[in-house]
Amino acid sequence: MIMEPCVKDNKITFDLTEEQLLIKEMVADIAKNEFAPKAAEIDRLHRFPKENWQLLAASDLCGLVFPEKYGGAGLDQVSYAIVVEELAKSCATTSVMYSAHVSLCAKPIYLFGSEEQKQRILTPMCKGEKMGAFALSEPGSGSDSAAATCMAVDQGPHFILNGSKNWITNGVEADYYLVIAQTDKQLRHKGLVALVVEKGSPGFTFGKLEDKLGIRGSSTCELHFDGTKVPKANMLGQVGEGFKVAMATLDGGRIGIAAQAVGIAQGAWDHASAYAKERVAFGQTINKLQAIQFMLTEMAVEIDTARLLTLHASQAQDLGKRFTKEAAHAKLFAAEVAMRSTVKCVQIFGGYGFVTDYPVERYMRDAKITEIYEGTSEIQRLVIANNLLKGQ
Ligand code: CAA
Repeated sequence: MIMEPCVKDNKITFDLTEEQLLIKEMVADIAKNEFAPKAAEIDRLHRFPKENWQLLAASDLCGLVFPEKYGGAGLDQVSYAIVVEELAKSCATTSVMYSAHVSLCAKPIYLFGSEEQKQRILTPMCKGEKMGAFALSEPGSGSDSAAATCMAVDQGPHFILNGSKNWITNGVEADYYLVIAQTDKQLRHKGLVALVVEKGSPGFTFGKLEDKLGIRGSSTCELHFDGTKVPKANMLGQVGEGFKVAMATLDGGRIGIAAQAVGIAQGAWDHASAYAKERVAFGQTINKLQAIQFMLTEMAVEIDTARLLTLHASQAQDLGKRFTKEAAHAKLFAAEVAMRSTVKCVQIFGGYGFVTDYPVERYMRDAKITEIYEGTSEIQRLVIANNLLKGQ
């Protein structure tokens, strides 16, 4: 299915299907009425909004892109990007809780898991009964994933896991953790294995909860494994395939972060343009001043472009093509647009942008992480260069 770009509500957009428009409206409604009013409090108190997760589950969103036979809704990746954007417009914390569950944990189980693993692990995740997390980074290996030192030793029917993972989204709250562990350090990426570790496994404990600049309601923590037994029945694919599982997972995850960045930028823009229509200076509302108009229009062009790149990457994913480059394009551009736009939105609010009475300072803080997690902007440039210049 090829979607033609069209003009809608004076915005360049994709010609969404009726189903995609319905899901957009439904999620926008929930996000605006249920999540937006609490977003500032969640941020201030660093409170994980469990009730938001429960509402996402009750709205059948936790398994959005998975087949109905696993409890999913059977929708496409374009719908997923739309959902993440709508959530992020109101509450970035909720959007990352959701995208880490769907893209970083449920998706690889669907792509690389056996039928038995899909029935046993994916199905409760789709129903929202279990939440997922992804554990790749370590204190000593962030961008260089192949340097992982969290060890998985083969002991017949199970692996024994020893080591730590950090920066784990849904850290304390998740039930299933997709852990990328090393079986042989000499082999680097060829020694990695992907294991689903269940909360409550003996020897699996949590380290400190991070005190973050943004997405402060999301729970980000370290994981520690001390002799943790993981049954072989929880291995995705084979030993040595962990790196490919991780990279393919991140290809999808990066589209989720691009959609999150678009949502943050659009949410901030909506607040700034509404404020500009009310705020009076020099005898007129400031939206009449060219300085403000130029800022708002430049942002609008960039946000629409970022959205199109995100939908384009989602569409490539739906078509079953390799979409590594498209995902990196979308994430790189959308994250940098989110950062630039939110800084400009704070500027439009002037002094009021610098205080917590208005939400734009939160959007600016939330935007920063989109340039860092699931591959920094520098890693996205590297991935794009590797794809563009391959064979030259
Ligand atoms: N899909 C499938 N396979 C892939 C792939 C992909 N997207 N990318 C690479 N591979 C394969 C290659 O084909 C190659 O296979 P062979 O060995 O069979 O030839 C193998 O993987 C190694 O590829 P590279 O040589 O390109 O790997 P590299 O060591 O140069 O690393 C990298 C590439 C781009 C730097 C990669 O390590 C990377 O993306 N790093 C960033 C990691 C990252 O995003 N971390 C964030 C963690 S998640 C998070 O943020 C926490 C959270 O909870 C939100």
